[in-house]
Amino acid sequence: MAYDPLKDPDTFKSFDVHKDQAEHASEASSSSKPRPYAPTWRVSEPKSVAVPITSDEIEQFKRRSRNPLRDDTQEFQLPVRRKRQDSETGDSSMVAMHYNQRREVGRDAREYSPIIPLKRFNNWIKSALIAMYAHSSGTRGKGGRVLDLGCGKGGDLRKWDRQRPAHMVMIDLATISVEQAQDRYKEGNYRWPADFFTFDCFRRPLQDVVPMALLEPKFDTVTMQFCLHYGWDTEESARTMLSNVSKWLRPGGTFIGTIPDEETLFARLDAQPEVTDLSFGNENYRIEFEERHESGEKPFGNKYRFWLEDAVDDVPEYVVDWATFERLAKEYGMQLIYKARFDQILSDGYANKNLRQLLERMQVIDPNMAAAGIVTPAMPPAMWEACSMYMDTDSTALYLGFAFERIVTDDDP
Ligand SMILES: C[S@@+](CC[C@H](N)C(=O)[O-])C[C@H]1O[C@@H](n2cnc3c(N)ncnc32)[C@H](O)[C@@H]1O
Repeated sequence: MAYDPLKDPDTFKSFDVHKDQAEHASEASSSSKPRPYAPTWRVSEPKSVAVPITSDEIEQFKRRSRNPLRDDTQEFQLPVRRKRQDSETGDSSMVAMHYNQRREVGRDAREYSPIIPLKRFNNWIKSALIAMYAHSSGTRGKGGRVLDLGCGKGGDLRKWDRQRPAHMVMIDLATISVEQAQDRYKEGNYRWPADFFTFDCFRRPLQDVVPMALLEPKFDTVTMQFCLHYGWDTEESARTMLSNVSKWLRPGGTFIGTIPDEETLFARLDAQPEVTDLSFGNENYRIEFEERHESGEKPFGNKYRFWLEDAVDDVPEYVVDWATFERLAKEYGMQLIYKARFDQILSDGYANKNLRQLLERMQVIDPNMAAAGIVTPAMPPAMWEACSMYMDTDSTALYLGFAFERIVTDDDP
């Protein structure tokens, strides 16, 4: 049975405020001198101090998923004896734990997600980036060799299948996600080979884990969807990741991805009435910054927590300082060829017949509105705010997509 902290009598023991107050009151009346700390009613053994449930965790329970096909009790479980947070294990372990704990609910159940319009929109955006910027050099099938960094549970396998890749190497930090991606790959009966690995691509060189035979010939496309912002904590991590991309991408190959747009994040934070107010959001999403910094002031490690209903539970992420990202990418031999917020990608993709048809098939846009010349995703305003941001009458997307092309450098053979 899944451990349910709400049913565990120990969970709230440390919150027995009335008992504490009564004991303090009786101690105070029996002696006026301060007494050393020597609890007489402790229940835990020495050296195994229970860590009380935090206010963040209480908030997470309050925001449990509204997807009827998700078993809420399994979605967020506290290990029976928890370690104290971040410092020992690092944020990447928290990210891995979060994604490992998210159950794979299957394709039908995914359709019941309360944010399904947003998920469909994001899926279409990824399909559009793939269709526009992922191409082989012509000798290895239409889609060529693909490296998926932060592949998650393999949600993009079907998108890649449309490109007929020659081979895919899929990597993620979260072991259980990688296993689920592997299961999905087997169930999909795809006609192209794929290999799966678990490791932190911001901390380790690819060649330490992936056999050379799978790294060459070099990849035609490296894709990193909704992942880069988890690893943008230090310059060293960013450089390790960029070196992993550049080293194994063929000249002319592309590096594509999606990240939160720094400008929109800062604009939204600046729109808060109080300078001390570091969070914003609505019933579908919430972003909470640790500190307030001007754009460019803290190029790495500018941390915030992100909650997105039925998807992400208060996971630490970092603002990707765009100027720094583009400058470093150039250092690693990658030239920017496309950068657009999701609303712009929607209008760019709409101009392409195949992508327009895909938009309609995936029910991303309202066909009646589109016929009237208004191409916007069919979703409630609060949900659109979770992937965009309203400023007066203008709306700009919270996320952006990018494509870099690998250019030939002096280091290339
Ligand atoms: C929001 S999910 C996106 C998954 C997939 N790319 C998609 O678009 O459906 C982010 C993924 O990035 C992975 N991730 C985060 N940090 C990582 C790292 N340092 N190395 C490898 N994967 C990482 C997470 O485990 C998670 O599966």
